[in-house]
This record gives sequence, C-alpha cells and structure tokens, in this order.
Amino acid sequence: MIEKLQVELGDRTYPIFIGSDILHQSQNFVPYIKSKQVLIVSNVTVAPLYLDNIKSVLTDFQCHEVILPDGEAYKTLEILNLVFDSLLQNRLNRQVTVVALGGGVIGDMAGFAAACYQRGVPFIQVPTTLLSQVDSSVGGKTGVNHALGKNMIGAFYQPQCVVIDTNTLNTLDDRQLSAGIAEVIKYGLINDLEFFVWLENNMQSLLNRNPESLRYAIKASCQNKANVVAEDEKEAGVRALLNLGHTFGHAIETNEGYGTWLHGEAVSIGLLMAAILSYKQGWITEDDKNRVQQCLASANLPYKIPEKMNADDFIKLMSVDKKVKDGVIRLVLMKSIGESFVTSEYDHSLLIETLNGV
Ligand code: NAD
Ligand code: GLY
Repeated sequence: MIEKLQVELGDRTYPIFIGSDILHQSQNFVPYIKSKQVLIVSNVTVAPLYLDNIKSVLTDFQCHEVILPDGEAYKTLEILNLVFDSLLQNRLNRQVTVVALGGGVIGDMAGFAAACYQRGVPFIQVPTTLLSQVDSSVGGKTGVNHALGKNMIGAFYQPQCVVIDTNTLNTLDDRQLSAGIAEVIKYGLINDLEFFVWLENNMQSLLNRNPESLRYAIKASCQNKANVVAEDEKEAGVRALLNLGHTFGHAIETNEGYGTWLHGEAVSIGLLMAAILSYKQGWITEDDKNRVQQCLASANLPYKIPEKMNADDFIKLMSVDKKVKDGVIRLVLMKSIGESFVTSEYDHSLLIETLNGV
C-alpha cells in the first residue's frame, strides 16, 4: 500500500509517496521526469545498496550518476562542484532531472545543485534515512555548510516529488535510526501532544523497526511538515518552529566539527536545552521537562552538552543563526509539550545558565 500526501504550493504542489518496496515502482518516478536525461546523485554507501534499484525503473531514460564521498564533512561547495562537473561533462541540458538518492546530506546537496544548474532544473528526492524521510526531503530547503556556519549557503527549491521507501531503513544502523527519531520527537513537541504521547508509548516498536510504526511516524511527521511548509514556504513565520532545538544543535555541530555528532543527535541535545530553558523561565513544568528527557533517552539519544563547550562557544555560534534579527538571538522555546513558539523575550542569564549546563 502506498500512502500519498501533498505539499500544497500552488503550481509547485508535489506529492510525497510513502510505502515499503516502492523504489521498484516506476509510476512514482516516471510522470515527474521532464525529459530523457536523468542524473542520479548518491554517495559511496548508498549507491551500492540502491542505485541499481532506481536505474531498473528508469530504463527508458539516459541515466547518468555521480557518486560523492559519504558524510556531513563533505557537504561543501567544493564537493558540490563534482555534481556540476558531471552535469556539464555529460552535456545535460535544462530539462535534466536530478535524482537525490541518499540521506539528508545528499538531498540537500543534490537539491542545491538542481536549484543552481542553469538557474534551476527539476529534481526528485529519494530519502533513505529516517531523518531525511521525516524532515529534510520535504519542504525545499537545500544547501551546503560553510566552515563558519551550518547550512549557510543554500536556496529554497522544491522537488517534483518525494519517494519514501521504508524498506531502505532496514540497512540503516541503529545510531542513524535514533538520530532520525530526534526529528520525529521534534514534531510532537512543536504542536502535537497526541503524537508525542504516541511516541512515548511506541518508542520500542520504532526502534525495533516495526513497519507499521515506522510508517505511522513517517506519515505523521511528513503531514506535519507539509502543513507548515504550505503555510510558510520561505520561513517568514511559522516554519521557524521547525527549528526547535536546532539553534543549540547547529552550534554543537559546528563547534565539534561536522560529522562528530550526527545532526539528529545534536538536535536531541538542543531539544532538551530548549526544554530546560523553557522550564527555567517557568513556562513548562518540571514534569514536562523530564518527559522530554525521558523520551529522548528512550530513543537512545544523547541529551548532555559536550563537556568542552561553554556558554561563550554557544553564543558565538548561535549569533550566526538564520533566526538572528537585529543582533538578537531568537529561539524556539516551549509553552507546553505540543506548543512551541519563537521568542527573543527570554532572560539572558537563564540562557547562559542553560548553555553552561547548570
Ligand atoms: P546523512 O545523509 O549523512 O546519512 C547518514 C548516514 O547514513 C550516511 O553515512 C549515509 O551514507 C548513510 N545512509 C543513508 N541511507 C542509508 C541506508 N538506507 N542504509 C545504510 N546507510 C545509509 O545524514 P542524515 O541524518 O540523513 O541527514 C542529515 C543532514 O540533513 C544534515 O546535513 C542536516 O543539516 C540536513 N537536514 C536538512 C533539512 C532540510 O530541511 N533540508 C532538515 C533536517 C536536516
Ligand atoms: N528542518 C527545518 C525546515 O525544514 O524548515
């Protein structure tokens, strides 16, 4: 069975297909490809697992491929150039469709390449990690990192469709699965108490990769994200909520070196920091703060600030966050589980206490 959701963006509306073993089904791809030319972008880990799969449904197309090194540390302009090299060396034209086959790193890079090549060519997202299936493949944020800041170079650019095959999660290691669950928990904390309670009750089943539980969590997450993106594609308002935990998390990723912490792990610590600051402010109860910590712990996610990071390190890096306005760091914080909001009206000394881990 295939679930179909839509990201409603007028004439750029696109479907999200969710199902098991759906990489073999050409109808999820072929109608969304504009010409005979296809460039599949993948990496050295994912290509041996799934490239042939995709190629077998694209036999009517001239399929080219570019295989990038694997890892967050390679999400750079330099490595992105390999995609442009391939597009040009193969003389691919303005109608070429770029297919992103991999996790969030490949999705963000291939999407950004598609946004830039000849000022924009179509692309398709085929996310293969839980994190990319529930978050990065949907909504059109694409880009690369800079040494001074995470995801600082990029574009909003929507795909033609998103094809989520939950079977691909069977080859993902446990640490990566947990990292994806951090983004799933995020949706519950932002605006969906019922989903958060479901996660509290079904965490073991997700960790055991129960197909029904995975499908439910992916669908709920994608629906939530699709709703937010439809309302605020370019993050003028409500979309900023999707960054709950990320201002802290991005600072950890940048400070520690890209790839040291998985994105989802850094977000996990950031979610707890948001809960702690919200608790210190008196906005959420101690019980709610503890529930956040317990939920993250039950997913085998980290929730402790890296020992060598102090408030100064955080503030320096958080000051280049995309939500900074007129020099003030705006944060996504919580009024309760299931109700987050963006604010710059917090007590700075409580922020410093939180950043120092006290
Ligand atoms: P990732 O892309 O690095 O993938 C994690 C690891 O899993 C990699 O080693 C990858 O090769 C491997 N892998 C992928 N699929 C696999 C499979 N099916 N089986 C076995 N191994 C597999 O990391 P990620 O967690 O998917 O994504 C993180 C990135 O996504 C970060 O760069 C983050 O900034 C970005 N992100 C973007 C958005 C957005 O809205 N664009 C949202 C959240 C995160
Ligand atoms: N991951 C945050 C966003 O897509 O807006």
